[in-house]
Amino acid sequence: MPLLEAKDVVSGYGKVEILHDVSVHVDEEEMVSIIGPNGSGKSTLMKTIFGLLNAWEGEVNFEGRDITGFKPNEIVREGLCYVPQESNIFPTLTVEENLDMGAFIRTDDYSEELQNVYELFPALTKKKDQQVGNLSGGQQQMVAMGSALMLNPSILLLDEPTAGLAPNLAQMILERIKDINDTGVAILIVEQNAREALKLSNRGYVLAMGKNKFTGKSDDLLDNEEVGKLYLGG
Ligand SMILES: Nc1ncnc2c1ncn2[C@@H]1O[C@H](COP(=O)(O)OP(=O)(O)OP(=O)(O)O)[C@@H](O)[C@H]1O
Ligand SMILES: [Mg+2]
Repeated sequence: MPLLEAKDVVSGYGKVEILHDVSVHVDEEEMVSIIGPNGSGKSTLMKTIFGLLNAWEGEVNFEGRDITGFKPNEIVREGLCYVPQESNIFPTLTVEENLDMGAFIRTDDYSEELQNVYELFPALTKKKDQQVGNLSGGQQQMVAMGSALMLNPSILLLDEPTAGLAPNLAQMILERIKDINDTGVAILIVEQNAREALKLSNRGYVLAMGKNKFTGKSDDLLDNEEVGKLYLGG
């Protein structure tokens, strides 16, 4: 049984259908990449899984439970956290206040998670009391992911966590994501740095025009001539 499964999902905006029977799954402790051209529906799929958009057809299952139609605030309580492509931090709050916000539904002690986030991203330790809006793009991404980790999720959905970052910084963020995965947190990641993301992932999906185009083990996708030419920049 997969940890997370989106099955034959149809969804979109208003009356415009964007996803046409899209299926993806993530097994426990797996890291899975979703790649594909701009506008192919990657973010729409993430939003539909997380309940920000309704699935018109199909279903979303998590830990064997049907969560189709669940709202985001119910889904995070199940152990599925999502870091959106945009507006994923509170810029006027400090680093630590952002992490506190990540834990807002918790009524128990979360000092251990806080410490884990600072260990994962040591750069944030010195910046605890600084406004996140004043940090670098890479550090803002660390805060966004750190906030999601405060709920101890069993899976993290990440939508383009390296967007706008210089290549070496993007690589560093991807490696930290792999570190998170190595602690047992499953990862479903949408990435523009498709080759780098696939190298760190177990499997991948290529979405094109709102449909499943290719899927397979990362190594097979990386070796596939058509995938390479069309979706990995040659
Ligand atoms: N809020 C919205 N309202 C209407 N149409 C939208 C909305 N958001 C996205 N779309 C459309 O849905 C389609 C898929 O967009 P989506 O954001 O899912 O693509 P994406 O694969 O994430 O692209 P990118 O790589 O640029 O982030 C596009 O045609 C886009 O114009
Ligand atoms: Mg997107």
